Amino acid sequence: MCGIVGGIAQRDLREILIEGLRRLEYRGYDSAGLVLIQPDQRLQRCRRLGKVQALAEAVAAEGLSGSLGLAHTRWATHGAPSEQNAHPHLSGDQVALVHNGIIENYQELRSAQRAAGHSFSSETDTEVIVHAIADQMDQGHDLLQALQGTLGQLKGAYALGVICQAEPERLVAARHGSPLVIGLGFGEHFIASDMAALLPVTQRFIILEEGDIAELSRDGVKVYDAELRPVERPVHESRLSADAVERGEYRHFMLKEIHEQPRALADTLEGRLSADCLLISAFGYAAEELLGRVRAVQIVACGTSYHAGLTARYWIERYCGLPCSVEVASEFRYRQPVVLADCLFVSISQSGETADTLAALRQAKQLGYVASLAICNVAESALVRESDLVLLTHAGPEIGVASTKAFTTQLAALLLLLGALGRSRGLIGCDEIELVAQLRSLPGLCERILQLDEPIRALAEAFVDKQHALFLGRGSLYPIALEGSLKLKEISYIHAEAYPAGELKHGPLALIDEDMPVVAVAPNNALLDKLKANLEEVRARGGQLYVFADEAVCLSETGEGYTVLALPHSAQLVAPIAYTLPLQLLAYHVAVLKGTDVDQPRNLAKSVTVE
Ligand code: AGP
Repeated sequence: MCGIVGGIAQRDLREILIEGLRRLEYRGYDSAGLVLIQPDQRLQRCRRLGKVQALAEAVAAEGLSGSLGLAHTRWATHGAPSEQNAHPHLSGDQVALVHNGIIENYQELRSAQRAAGHSFSSETDTEVIVHAIADQMDQGHDLLQALQGTLGQLKGAYALGVICQAEPERLVAARHGSPLVIGLGFGEHFIASDMAALLPVTQRFIILEEGDIAELSRDGVKVYDAELRPVERPVHESRLSADAVERGEYRHFMLKEIHEQPRALADTLEGRLSADCLLISAFGYAAEELLGRVRAVQIVACGTSYHAGLTARYWIERYCGLPCSVEVASEFRYRQPVVLADCLFVSISQSGETADTLAALRQAKQLGYVASLAICNVAESALVRESDLVLLTHAGPEIGVASTKAFTTQLAALLLLLGALGRSRGLIGCDEIELVAQLRSLPGLCERILQLDEPIRALAEAFVDKQHALFLGRGSLYPIALEGSLKLKEISYIHAEAYPAGELKHGPLALIDEDMPVVAVAPNNALLDKLKANLEEVRARGGQLYVFADEAVCLSETGEGYTVLALPHSAQLVAPIAYTLPLQLLAYHVAVLKGTDVDQPRNLAKSVTVE
């Protein structure tokens, strides 16, 4: 998704802005650009299709420099990826602007501006904003007033940074529906889509709230509400160091993040478990009383986070006896759901800025849920700020577009939720002591599974030339099969689907032949014999089976077309977490062998802040 960096300083900002863009690359983008007010007061812009590195070389060759500027990575929504459509956009040689979001009424504004004499140099929805600001300035408003006057004309979502030639002493910014933070320095201040972009220059941040407008000068920062009344916003100290988002010795961020999972899981559990029970206060003030009233659960999320929700449904219904529905946020937000009495609304998101999930939360707040709980990896995100209860996953920054440690820590957090919901009514067939023991086993168990990296790499070779793959699981392992297939398709571009294994005979069995590898996850649980029978159906039709199975499981049928990789034994509740790891490694190694862009797969964005 688009990324914004900007700043006003005493020193030259070229390298700071480029480094900021590099740190936003993980969000996904197709082009990049930068504008600086030159020492001679001219706006000088440079844009390139493709990587930030190409932009860095171009701005160096063109000798751009200046202490007031804006930079942007674009993820195309309106208009193809091209240099012309890349940001910053200019109005004449006066005003420059960068935008993250979507302006829904841009056609209408464009027609009116065209009639008033503006010509357009891009196909974007963004360009109307910069012309509207220039028009306001022509009517005598200063830059801040012009921005505020323009915001009233816009429908949609935006984070904006604006500078102009006539006012080389300030940068203005605004946020509505897309994230934007301000980085505070000494004699220099910055804006960015997220803190990671600015960690080399500051650890102190203001997180703009919905509708905020900000004015940055070298001397300070002022924040206003939509009517330009000054407002106070707290300053947050980030605990992240600049190298928290470095790749280190790993070839890709995704591999680093897969291997960080034992630590991420331990961090997520830390402070939430005593020797033999859960500490429900971790969910927030009044959590024990609120969660005790819950009689039903509605989970909403997107993508990988949705798969975490699907897994939790098996747990919540099986062990708590509570009805639990799970829905993708983009569907939930546009229907009229029937809300059960005393129903808890749970949103799950790595970023906490996913537009559909946020919109679903806002809709839910009108619908009479007993409370809203966010399970999220970013403490400063809108989802966290707008929810009644919060359980943060402590996965640390996740840079690879393919979600890995965010997913397994979400599952650990959902097991904590299971325990918290079970506290007042008692867990069925499992007590809190057993749940805590299983959670405590997780980091060590995951360490042992990650040692299977080499055999999984060898197995990946069988997938490189394939066009399709099928993933199978049963019970709470079915969502893990879904997650495995999502991982493979998003980074290796191999078409992959997942089915509950019992559903095979109702259609997908027709696809089975030697060119359709079938991956199955087979922990030692009550459904194992059923799963084995389903795998035989595949084998009998010439399918190639790759089975991740508990070491105690005897799959005597192994041989031609039947490859089994034994995993250390995992207890029932944590098996979905354990079996996720080999599927992540499989997808990773297939992608590396295919030579795809593992951390920034084509067409995808890390944080989907537009609808
Ligand atoms: C999965 O690998 C993707 N990155 C994607 O499906 C992601 O999980 C989805 O966009 C939701 O993001 P969120 O968790 O930040 O809300």
